Amino acid sequence: MKAIILAGGKGTRLYPITLGVSKQLLPVNDVPMIYYPLSVLLRAGISEIAIISTPDHLPGFENLLGCGSQLGAQFTYIEQPQPEGIAQAFILAEKFIGRDACALILGDNIFYGSQLTELLKSAIDRAADKATLFAYEVKDSKRYGVIEKDASGKILSIEEKPKHPKSNLAVTGLYVYPNTIVSVANSIRPSPRGELEITDVNAYYMKSDQLVCEQLGRGYAWFDTGTINSLYQATDYVRALEDRQGFKIGCIEEAAFQAGLLSKAGLQKRAAFFEHNDYGTYLKSLIQ
Ligand code: G1P
Repeated sequence: MKAIILAGGKGTRLYPITLGVSKQLLPVNDVPMIYYPLSVLLRAGISEIAIISTPDHLPGFENLLGCGSQLGAQFTYIEQPQPEGIAQAFILAEKFIGRDACALILGDNIFYGSQLTELLKSAIDRAADKATLFAYEVKDSKRYGVIEKDASGKILSIEEKPKHPKSNLAVTGLYVYPNTIVSVANSIRPSPRGELEITDVNAYYMKSDQLVCEQLGRGYAWFDTGTINSLYQATDYVRALEDRQGFKIGCIEEAAFQAGLLSKAGLQKRAAFFEHNDYGTYLKSLIQ
């Protein structure tokens, strides 16, 4: 299983902050935003990951994350010259994906919940012929892809940012696809907003009866951190939980260690690297 973190876009809703720095490199509590989606993938044991961003911002991600070996992972960096849609990521990553199934997570999406890793692993297990998306109930679903299901859970429709949503179930920015994703992404046409929509890809899998929708229930948190408000909401949430329980959310070393990608010696090295701050102290505590 391969995976893509899409960390493109201009982040215009966060201007002027994002004039000089990528949105997905901004801090959410004490780590860069991209650590959260990255740790979701690592926790599920996915180690071959492509990071896609704009030509301007890609070097920032390379400086931050390197080749991935410090986490027992392998990172590939791919440019998205223009923000032409989430589905375009699969076309840009065709060589990276090769013959594998591929997950995608948006670099500004923060997920939290105790069974998420298990749900993602199940999605990976069925990815030979089934696509999986993760839905989450929100108050105002108009801003998202919206999914409609019947009482038995059968998916009836998926619409991108509908004016009159048929449900309050938003499609989150985490997806798992079979290897056919590359040809499906190549087959769709740009939407009126000029993007290759992930919703059109999902509609394709729905029509061919290959789409599974996992609903993340009340015990989960999902934030997309595209606005200043949601950015602070996510930070407040992470701070409150970390403060109360003492463990970190979005710690990539911990995720890689628990998934068995990073050895104890590797974790020790990382702890030594950060020895002068609280992050290093936390890594050290994981070794004991
Ligand atoms: C994108 C997708 C949308 C999905 C959302 C999740 O929206 O198009 O279907 O619900 O991500 O964050 P966009 O970021 O383009 O507004």
